[in-house]
Amino acid sequence: MLLEETIHVHAGGRARGYPIRVRSGIRRALPQMIPAHARAHRYAVIADEAVAELYGREVADGLRREGKEAHLFTFPPGEASKSRGQWQALTDAMLEAGFGRDSAVVAVGGGVTGDLAGFVAATFMRGIPLVMVPTSLVAMIDSSVGGKVGVDVPHGKNLVGAFHPPRLVVVDPEVAVTLPRAERAQGLAEAVKHGAILDPVYLADLEDDIPCVMNGEVRATARVVVRSIEIKADIVSKDERESGLRQVLNFGHTLGHALEAASGYTVPHGSCVALGMVLEARLGERLGVTEPGTADLLARLVRLLELSLSLPPGLDPEEVLAFTRSDKKGRAGRPRYVLLAAPGRVAGKGEEWAREVPEETVLEVLREAAF
Ligand SMILES: NC(=O)c1ccc[n+]([C@@H]2O[C@H](COP(=O)([O-])OP(=O)(O)OC[C@H]3O[C@@H](n4cnc5c(N)ncnc54)[C@H](O)[C@@H]3O)[C@@H](O)[C@H]2O)c1
Ligand SMILES: [Zn+2]
Repeated sequence: MLLEETIHVHAGGRARGYPIRVRSGIRRALPQMIPAHARAHRYAVIADEAVAELYGREVADGLRREGKEAHLFTFPPGEASKSRGQWQALTDAMLEAGFGRDSAVVAVGGGVTGDLAGFVAATFMRGIPLVMVPTSLVAMIDSSVGGKVGVDVPHGKNLVGAFHPPRLVVVDPEVAVTLPRAERAQGLAEAVKHGAILDPVYLADLEDDIPCVMNGEVRATARVVVRSIEIKADIVSKDERESGLRQVLNFGHTLGHALEAASGYTVPHGSCVALGMVLEARLGERLGVTEPGTADLLARLVRLLELSLSLPPGLDPEEVLAFTRSDKKGRAGRPRYVLLAAPGRVAGKGEEWAREVPEETVLEVLREAAF
């Protein structure tokens, strides 16, 4: 039996911090833990239809057994549900069911649920308490840490949202067992990023742990989830609003986002970031910033994730380059890149973690990875 790990996220300014508790089987203690951290008269347990059947219903039933009023609200699985339409449907359904100011939201699911239900919590009656129970590796490792919630709009992803830190995050690594293998790879891509930017030992350990997590081994999953949460929590605790240090989390994402957009969002985010990290490491090596061999090491890990090291078929390098110019993290259409100094260490100093690079070099690297 694994011991429980608690990681604290310190929110900036007046916002309160919150604990992330990780333990195998911890979901069975949710009916007692939720009211202890988020007191409310009514609990809206929000989950997509698939996760509702696997885990959401048991959370709502458990709360009711504890004498709490709890209602399960569901929506169809998938990114398309992270919309203003679903936000409207959920808030209307809560009002219809008599939910008021004295309510709390429990988000049980992947990143889509965390972002959508989190945005419901941020806006319902100007903000009610939120408890997150992430069930995908993306949600455990990434989206439940940092307090960002929101929805997609026709203009782009995540463009309407809020900072609404949860009161509590509860991670049960056992639930990743039911997650499809390809979804595990999506979360692990961000774990590789955490090792690549900050922890060479973790990065080396991932070479052994990735195959175990891909196969659904709970102990390895718990190990990876805890270390990744520690790294991301440490960064966002130091920089809640994304002004400085938090930029390092964008390693692999300038090219990753461009690949995602150029593919018309048909290639998943984690797959694009995995390739983006390898390409940005090659870019750094060419510019003499990144220690030679770094890109090869990352490529080995991406292979273990069973993800592609080439541009998606039919994608033109010039077109990908053009998409880097619309990256929202850039300044005035000039994209910036977070480069590594070596595996486990970001290049840069002070608050300048991202830099502009010559477009010709980016294009060379993209051309090399083209079919
Ligand atoms: N807020 C943030 O800081 C942040 C960070 C990273 C990603 N995100 C967002 O997260 C979203 C992607 O998250 P995701 O990949 O978890 O997507 P998702 O929520 O759609 O989950 C992926 C799929 O896995 C299923 N699933 C989830 N947990 C399961 C389980 N334990 N067993 C079986 N099936 C399960 C879901 O039903 C869904 O079909 C994107 O919208 C992205 O923008 C947000
Ligand atoms: Zn990402």
